[in-house]
Amino acid sequence: MTTPKDFAQLIEQMPQLLAPSLARDWPNLPVNRAEGMYLIGVDGRRYLDFTAGIAVLNVGHCHPRVVEAAQQQTAAMIHSAVGITQTAALLRLADELTKVLPPGLDSFFFGNSGAEAIEGALKLARFATGRPGFIAFWGGFHGRTLATAALTTSKGKYRAGYEPLLPGVYFADYPYCYRCPVNRQPATCHLECMASLDTLFSRAIAPGEVAAFIVEPIQGEAGFVTPPVEFLQRLRQLADEHGILLIFDEIQTGFGRTGQMFAAQTFGVTPDIMAIAKGIASGFPLSAVVASRELMKKWKPGAHSTTFGGNPVACAAGVATLEVIRDENLLDNCRQMGARLLAGVQQLQARYPIIGDVRGLGLMIGLEFVQPGPDRQPNPQAVTRLLDECLKRGLLLYMAGLHNHVIRIFPPLIVTAAQIDEALQIMDESLAVMSA
Ligand SMILES: Cc1ncc(COP(=O)(O)O)c(C=O)c1O
Repeated sequence: MTTPKDFAQLIEQMPQLLAPSLARDWPNLPVNRAEGMYLIGVDGRRYLDFTAGIAVLNVGHCHPRVVEAAQQQTAAMIHSAVGITQTAALLRLADELTKVLPPGLDSFFFGNSGAEAIEGALKLARFATGRPGFIAFWGGFHGRTLATAALTTSKGKYRAGYEPLLPGVYFADYPYCYRCPVNRQPATCHLECMASLDTLFSRAIAPGEVAAFIVEPIQGEAGFVTPPVEFLQRLRQLADEHGILLIFDEIQTGFGRTGQMFAAQTFGVTPDIMAIAKGIASGFPLSAVVASRELMKKWKPGAHSTTFGGNPVACAAGVATLEVIRDENLLDNCRQMGARLLAGVQQLQARYPIIGDVRGLGLMIGLEFVQPGPDRQPNPQAVTRLLDECLKRGLLLYMAGLHNHVIRIFPPLIVTAAQIDEALQIMDESLAVMSA
């Protein structure tokens, strides 16, 4: 047998080993360990991780209770397909989730990834209503499979080269208030953007043919675009009026990110179906379609199933994750640290006019960068430079937005005040270097 290559050799070979669609991202930091708030580079350098693995590591990297639960379950049993067997880990996770979800969302279909949960939600909505259509929102991101790409318009690259996608999908305006789709001002806005739903109903698809609205309560990939609460309330009303199901994609907003367990609770609007993933199991691949028992009853036996979904190791990690969020008061911490972070970035905005907009809830804060001047032209160059400068100083942040002109700040919910201040200090130093 040949000697295995070391990490440095493998990194050199990465462009050949991986599909370019995967390999050309930023910054491809070589790491081999992580703990709490930190990623540890191969050179031993510690990076403050304010990306949380894209909103996955809400209890931090390798939380000891999550590690222990996963190790115990791994030693006992790694896999047994759901249906052929049942495991306590899966049923316990379902039972625990009913305690933290909005009342009435109490039945589950477990999968492995976010896109899979959205696929499941779409299938359930069609199956239960017998209707073909879906209405999604401009700027939304729901995944990269053919059906979820069909709902996705955060960037054209997710769709280009893959047509024809799932038919029966229509798009309505999302209230991106900094760049209002109907040119209103927030102070005098009456959600005129929602008229695009009336247009769809009168010109494109009758409400009686729509199975579901599918919406991110805060748009993630679009750049943490945060709607007024009335938008989600009106969507709920419209759904009820027309017998349309309301699906919340809480894949990025779930598990404490917005200061409540789910954005549904933060906004006080309960959907009919929720898709959850990312933060559910602290990095183990797991997701779920959630609905009421009444709605789930319509999904006939065998109409949808899975081999790996609800893997017991992932579910055991999921139960431990919920316990950590509860026992360490991470929702409180999220609200407090989120307020500190928001105040800090607002101060930066006051000093650096290239920060055009600051928005978000809890520990989900977006900074939209614009070119100097009144036109609010997107400024992706500033984002690229700021991300590099911050990384040089040991802080990992990530981009978002149609033009990659938004910085997403979404640290694990265990973040301390000292770490928030350190991140703000690093951002300040980096912005100062950029404006010099
Ligand atoms: C809101 C939202 N929906 C769906 C997905 C797709 O999840 P996955 O990458 O696990 O398939 C993501 C992933 O970033 C997401 O942010």
